[in-house]
Amino acid sequence: MKITVVGAGGNVGAAAALTLAQRDFAQEVVTIDIEVMRDGNTFNPARGRGLDQWQTSPIHLFDTFVHGGTDFEASAGSDVCIITAGMPRRPGMSRDDLLSTNAAIVRPVAEKLARYSPETVMIVVSNPLDAMTYVAYKASGFPPERVLGMAGVLDTARFRAFVAEELAVSPKDVQALILGGHGDNMVPLPRYSSVGGIPLTQLISRERLDAIIERTRFGGGEFVQIMGTSAWYAPGAAAAQMAEAVVLDQNRILPCAAWVTGQYGINDLFLGVPVKLGKGGIKDIIEIELDPSERALLEISANDVRKIIDDLHRVMSF
Ligand code: LAC
Repeated sequence: MKITVVGAGGNVGAAAALTLAQRDFAQEVVTIDIEVMRDGNTFNPARGRGLDQWQTSPIHLFDTFVHGGTDFEASAGSDVCIITAGMPRRPGMSRDDLLSTNAAIVRPVAEKLARYSPETVMIVVSNPLDAMTYVAYKASGFPPERVLGMAGVLDTARFRAFVAEELAVSPKDVQALILGGHGDNMVPLPRYSSVGGIPLTQLISRERLDAIIERTRFGGGEFVQIMGTSAWYAPGAAAAQMAEAVVLDQNRILPCAAWVTGQYGINDLFLGVPVKLGKGGIKDIIEIELDPSERALLEISANDVRKIIDDLHRVMSF
């Protein structure tokens, strides 16, 4: 089993690659990125990251061979390809501000990956997430079940971590569901969240819950404020978990950006929904019952994604 991470010279891709290696289920993790110029010298960050990570194998005790560089040929025959390539957010930037820059990066990456691994499943992490997943879908020519975006796993991980901290309970026992786009209007669903099987709404006050929902919505932005750039450990780990579900055919139920064709009354858009994830990608999109207010929030989030796809069509034709 082989997994390629494009953008692995950067922090999110490197975090994804190392998480995959440490989980030790794949034979090979290939790290790919462009060369960078610094002080008149040319460097190969993805090659360096791969080499460095491989040299942790005797310490972390994994067999997964991590290696890479700039050549996409090394990705040939991958079971899963993760795309983290693109610019991260800087202070004052929304995810949407990255649209044209990152679309121009993600398109050729997806084309090359599709050429070398025509049967692969693509997991997109680059922002703005829902739009970049659409770019990869168009550029790859793949069926929609083999292209998906990483957002819900990250957003729910943030929500679950905040809940665990608030209630002083193990994060392992906190389950949660967030629908919609990977933007500030994402839709956390407390009704579908639980702690050890107990509905979250019975354990936490409305006021504290609202504060956690708000913090989750702006979870990416909080990090940009603290660090001056985007988060990487949680996004990388989230992408790795999705790759594992596909490669090991786990049939996990995870919130992912998937191409919806009428589910939730929404058409032809990548949007965060619960899916069954296993070999071959998305096996099923699960439609849960929403009350009118939840449905209205999902519509708002879907409209944000629609708007950015319209903007994308103005800067790029497919
Ligand atoms: C975040 C970026 C990766 O949410 O979108 O941290």
